[in-house]
Amino acid sequence: MRKKVENCVQQIREKTDFVPKVALILGSGLGALADEIQVEVSIGYEELEGFPVSTVAGHKGRFVFGYIGKTPVVIMQGRVHYYEGYAMSDVVLPTRVMRLLGAEILFLTNAAGGISEKLKPGDLMLLTDQISSFVPSPLIGPNVDDWGERFPSMDTIYDLQLRDLLREEAKKCDVDLKEGIYLQTTGPCYESPAEVRMFGMLGADAVGMSTAVEAIVARHMGMRICGISCISNMAGGTAKEPLSHEEVKEVAERVAPLFKQLVRSSIERMC
Ligand code: HPA
Repeated sequence: MRKKVENCVQQIREKTDFVPKVALILGSGLGALADEIQVEVSIGYEELEGFPVSTVAGHKGRFVFGYIGKTPVVIMQGRVHYYEGYAMSDVVLPTRVMRLLGAEILFLTNAAGGISEKLKPGDLMLLTDQISSFVPSPLIGPNVDDWGERFPSMDTIYDLQLRDLLREEAKKCDVDLKEGIYLQTTGPCYESPAEVRMFGMLGADAVGMSTAVEAIVARHMGMRICGISCISNMAGGTAKEPLSHEEVKEVAERVAPLFKQLVRSSIERMC
């Protein structure tokens, strides 16, 4: 596993010596942000031997290296999901690669289903904590001591100062930023109404199929982490129509301008 990660890092280093400070992972419908930054280099996942290639429609697969303001960033335009059939170690490989390229901060974004009554479709939710107990831990297997400790704490996964920064920027951008706990499932099916009720009882405010495992490996490797969910729908089909991936993408794309502004102005301050 270590070899595979380091081999990807080496292949990238043969193409660019760019050192990012912030790693940004863009979720469903949010990928356009990567097209609007000052790009230095971009590398398609398929160019990297051993790198998992995303198969979901709407998830372009490439790293974009460049600047948001003065902040050097690497953006994952399209992520890899566990439900695509990859080993969990492959799902989190890109996060580890970005860390080894130099990124100190991980900025996670996703589309998620709202569980809490305080949320409605189109809301942006700042992640304050997460529940990953329904997916295998990405840290199972031999520990790479150079990367992090065997039993890392998951206390304050989402950095307090970064949370403050995002709240401040949300105010400036006139975004009514909600806050809550994200729960990750394996997917790919959406949740049944009974599951949504269960997750709500467990304390989850929103549910999605990514993010928590990426946060775990980033925390393990000592990154500072922040995350925002775009609430694209209410989980479990409280709407009249059955939930569809199209609906998820449509709402995410509708909110994208505000979302992009918030992400951009926050990252500008992370230099
Ligand atoms: N459930 C799980 N993942 C999701 C959802 C949902 O309702 N919406 C967007 N991603």
